[in-house]
Amino acid sequence: MEGEPKQVTGFLLFSLATAVIGSLQFGYNTGVINAPEQKLRTFFNDTWMERYGEPISQGMCTIVWSVSVAIFSVGGMVGSFSVGVMANRFGRYTPALNMVSPTPWSSGSYLRTLHRLHPHVRGLRGSPTPLLEEPSGPAQLGVVVGILIAQLSLTLLPLSQQTLLPSVLCSPYFLPLLSHTSLSLSIFITFVSLSSSLLSLVRLRGTEDVNKDMQEMKEESAKMALEKKVTIAELFKSAAYRQPLLIAVMLQLSQQLSGINAVFYYSTGIFDSAGVKQPIYATIGAGIVNVIFTIVSLFLVEKAGRRTLHLLGLGGMAVSALLMTISLLMKSVPVMSYVAILAVMLFVAMFELGPGPIPWFIVAELFSQGPRPAAMAVAGCCNWTANFLVGMSFPKLEELCGPWVFLIFTAFLILFFVFTFIKVPETKGKTFDEIARGFGGPAAAAAPEPILPAAEETPAEGATTVTINA
Ligand code: GLC
Repeated sequence: MEGEPKQVTGFLLFSLATAVIGSLQFGYNTGVINAPEQKLRTFFNDTWMERYGEPISQGMCTIVWSVSVAIFSVGGMVGSFSVGVMANRFGRYTPALNMVSPTPWSSGSYLRTLHRLHPHVRGLRGSPTPLLEEPSGPAQLGVVVGILIAQLSLTLLPLSQQTLLPSVLCSPYFLPLLSHTSLSLSIFITFVSLSSSLLSLVRLRGTEDVNKDMQEMKEESAKMALEKKVTIAELFKSAAYRQPLLIAVMLQLSQQLSGINAVFYYSTGIFDSAGVKQPIYATIGAGIVNVIFTIVSLFLVEKAGRRTLHLLGLGGMAVSALLMTISLLMKSVPVMSYVAILAVMLFVAMFELGPGPIPWFIVAELFSQGPRPAAMAVAGCCNWTANFLVGMSFPKLEELCGPWVFLIFTAFLILFFVFTFIKVPETKGKTFDEIARGFGGPAAAAAPEPILPAAEETPAEGATTVTINA
């Protein structure tokens, strides 16, 4: 931007790091439990022996194991639901949301706020893509990097020393500590009052000349105040929200029931049963592919459009799940262990093309400011509930279905493919007004405002079309 100071202030970096910590933490918790399956099963058995004087049964061990894996999603269910309530109550004091529920939404909304306050953040994130106008995408990058860090930390640490396991499992809890400290500071400085907004802007920009930003922020608050906040009950009652809500919820379900977390929670065991010699390294390989394709998707999404990528992702995942089934069925053929690795990598890559990032930001595109927090609460809660169900049930399903288990996900993927094909509109480059008209009702567009511009319509740096919201 002409005449603007170009420096990246320390406070800006600090605030950005704070925003990403929530997503990293989410990812770390997702990825950390995968590799030590055998260690944990041994631990359960030893404890059982100590208490009851006999070895734990296979069935009981599987139940304890799946509860240990899935239990953190219950926190996600509660957290994402309270985000809706908090966001309705506190509105743009969005950093607080990170403390309650570190999802791509809370990190995303904080990033969005920072981006809005400081156009250089766009350059800082190192990509020309206008998707960065909607930072839930980059927040997904935080999740996948968190998963990879967890996978790597387990490999780099000498796990033969079982005593280290508790530290590895609880290390993400230092992250919230860090983020809580920095968030408290950020909230204090950034959001409490008009005068602190001024102070915060000066610190973020590293210049006293922030009048233009202050003006934009005031205009935006005035615009937000025009729109009535919608409660969760009102969201369900109003016929005008029915279609967008159905789509938002179905996309969240498509993300989780695709079976992605069966891979991220249990891939080491899956690779093991497919005859892979070094299952932990294959798991790390899947983590690396996950990061690469999340980055690819950041660039693709403005060009190809959300609907197309979601369809491509679901279709590709269905094919990969079939391939996985074939490799498990024919595991006596030596080459099949490589086919299994390839199938999982393709599954993950296809996921990150669409079903990974898109459900996290589609809600912001389907709902305007008023109903958005309530819609996010409902959609987020559905996401975590489905995450919990997959985490809880996969080991049992694997025991029951054997090599056929991935066909369950193939069936879900086909179902969601058909749903997306029939019901989901392309939202790229459309206004809320246009999207709402497509659903045959005006209500989703209570306060017409532009959403993400298409690549070719990107406004000049610092232009005022980006929304800051929860
Ligand atoms: C998405 C999902 C999460 C999954 C991750 C994998 O963020 O919400 O459950 O573990 O992608 O990359």
